[in-house]
Amino acid sequence: MTDIASLLTNIRRYAQDTRVPILAAASEQVLIEVILAQKPARILEIGTAIGYSALLMAAHMPASGRIITIEKDAGRIILARQFIHQAGIDYENRITLVEGDAAQIIPGIAGPFDLVFIDAAKAQYYNYLTAVLTQLSPRAAVVADNVLFRGIVLDGQPPRRFRTIATRMKQYLDFVSRDPRFQTEIRAAGDGLSISYYQGDLV
Ligand SMILES: C[S@@+](CC[C@H](N)C(=O)[O-])C[C@H]1O[C@@H](n2cnc3c(N)ncnc32)[C@H](O)[C@@H]1O
Repeated sequence: MTDIASLLTNIRRYAQDTRVPILAAASEQVLIEVILAQKPARILEIGTAIGYSALLMAAHMPASGRIITIEKDAGRIILARQFIHQAGIDYENRITLVEGDAAQIIPGIAGPFDLVFIDAAKAQYYNYLTAVLTQLSPRAAVVADNVLFRGIVLDGQPPRRFRTIATRMKQYLDFVSRDPRFQTEIRAAGDGLSISYYQGDLV
């Protein structure tokens, strides 16, 4: 078994060398901070890539906690399985990698989840959240990465090629900011993270 800190360093280096997008180093502390405060027993991650953030979260959540993580890219799934295996049997037992399109998988996944980490197709965040809404535990946290997307989401004039992403991400941020079931804060770290605390028992 590899020690988890060294393994995470190796995965980050591999991701940089091969241009696999993973959680920005600057965002890592925000995610860890939320995990340590929430102490989630069950996490749903949407967008595994090669397993970096899944292993990071598993290392900081309660030792008995479990993660379901969804990825659709076949090559990345193979790598994620290898890295999770390298982390050792405890991590392998606690992390379930589900293969396929999150939009199709989420409706069939049983919660409740204490934390959801959204980090997949940027134009789909609102759809992911509405699909998982009934599976949130009463005080769940929903963390979404890249919500400021190069600063263009809150910019009134995004470049044409990013217009759809900017519009859909804004729809997500508007929803979690205005819906009374959520209290949301946005952090500028990395590419921007939103943290939305579900107030499910208010409704
Ligand atoms: C930014 S990466 C995830 C990084 C990972 N969370 C980390 O920090 O280590 C986004 C991943 O979402 C995956 N993805 C995009 N759309 C998806 C979908 N509809 N269903 C499942 N995975 C998807 C991509 O293949 C990609 O590997």
